Amino acid sequence: MQYAHITGWGMAVPEPVLTNDDLSKMVETNDAWIRERTGIRERHIARDNEFASTLGVSAALKALEVANLKPGDIDLIICATSSPEYIFPATACLIQDQIGATRAGAFDLSAACSGFIYALNMAAQSIRSGSIKSALVIGAETLSRFVNWKDRSTCILFGDGAGAFVLQASENPGGVLSAVMHSDGSGGDLLSLQGGGSHYPANEETVHEGKHYIHMNGGEVFRFATRVMAQATREALDAAGLTVEQVQWIIPHQANIRIIEAAARGLKLPMERFVVNVDRYGNTSTASIPIAMVEAVEKGQVKSGDKIVMVGFGAGLTWGALAAEWTGPLPVVHRVYPRQYRTVARLRSIWRRIERFIEGLFWGRYE
Ligand code: ACO
Repeated sequence: MQYAHITGWGMAVPEPVLTNDDLSKMVETNDAWIRERTGIRERHIARDNEFASTLGVSAALKALEVANLKPGDIDLIICATSSPEYIFPATACLIQDQIGATRAGAFDLSAACSGFIYALNMAAQSIRSGSIKSALVIGAETLSRFVNWKDRSTCILFGDGAGAFVLQASENPGGVLSAVMHSDGSGGDLLSLQGGGSHYPANEETVHEGKHYIHMNGGEVFRFATRVMAQATREALDAAGLTVEQVQWIIPHQANIRIIEAAARGLKLPMERFVVNVDRYGNTSTASIPIAMVEAVEKGQVKSGDKIVMVGFGAGLTWGALAAEWTGPLPVVHRVYPRQYRTVARLRSIWRRIERFIEGLFWGRYE
C-alpha cells in the first residue's frame, strides 16, 4: 500500500505591494471598510514581466529544494489556476519546461479557488494507486490581470502569488488521509470570467462589455462560502476517521476573514486553530492555501505529525476539503540543488526547438 506524503513546500509572491490606502486613490473605498468587511490590509501585484508560470516556477523550485528532489525526479505536474497564462498550452507545461522536469506529465486544473485541494487529491490518488511515485502540485495566480480596477466590489479582494507542494510515495502510513470534492454548476453565474472563451471569443464587443473581467455577486458567494466551509471540513474528517478535536490546524482558503470566522463558529473551534494570512495577501485563489501552509510551517506552527485540514470554495461553484498528517521533509542522504537545473532547463528548451526544426526537415514534409 502506497501513501502520498507532502515532503516539500514553497511559495512566491511578487514584490510590489498594493495597500488599502493605495486602492482608496483608485476607487471610492477606504482602509477601514476593506479591513472591517474582508480582513485584508494589502496584497501583492505581479510586475509586467511576472506571470502565473514564473511565480509557479519560483514556488516549485523552493518545494523541490525542501523535498531534496531534482526536477527530473518528478512524474506529474498539476497546476491549479484561475488565471492561466494562456487558454493553452497549460501553465503546467510552461513550468515543466522552465524547471526541466523532463519525465513529468503536466496539465492544468480549473476548479477556481478550490483548485489546489482538487489537484492535491488527484496527485495523491495517482500516488496511492501506484501509477506514479512523485508529483508537484502548484497553485499559481496573476488575478490582477483579470480584475476591473474600477470595480470597488472586486478589486479590493484579489492578489497574486503561487504556492507548491511536492508529494512522494511511501509505505509509511500518513500523508494525505482523505478528501472530498463538491460542485454546483447552477451557481456558475455568481462568480465568472466569461470573455475569451468559446461562448464569448474576445472581440471589440466583449472588451467593451468588460467580459474579460471577474464578475461576482459578493453577497451570494459569501452566503454559499459560510455554509460549505464547516460542512466540507467535517466530511473530510469523517472520511479520515478523525474528530475535529484531533486536528491541530485548519488551513482555510483565504478569501475573507468573516468567512473564516463563520467556519470557526460552525466547527465550534477557536480562531487560534485556523491559519490566517488574508490580511497580507488578499485572495490569491488557488495559491492561498499553499501560501498559508508554507508560512505556518516556516513559523513553526505546523509540525511533523500534526493532523491538518485544508478547506476551500470557489467559482463553479466548487468546494472541498482534504485531511492530512503533515510529514515534513524525508531524511537527506545526498543533497541536490534543484535551482541549478534551471540553466540546464533553458538550454535544453532551446535545444528541443532546434531538434524539432531538424526533425521537421526530414519527417515533416507533405508530398
Ligand atoms: N468600499 C466601500 N464601500 C463598498 C465597497 C468598497 N470596496 N464595496 C462595496 N461597498 C458598499 C456597497 O456599495 C454597499 O453600499 P450600499 O449599502 O450603499 O449599497 C455596501 O458597501 C455594502 O456592500 P455589500 O456588498 O453588502 O458588502 P459585504 O459586506 O457583503 O462585503 C464582499 C462585500 C467583501 C465582496 C463580501 O460579500 C465577500 O467577501 N463575498 C465573498 C467574495 C469571495 O470570497 N469571492 C471569492 C470566491 S473564491 C474564487 O473562486 C475566486
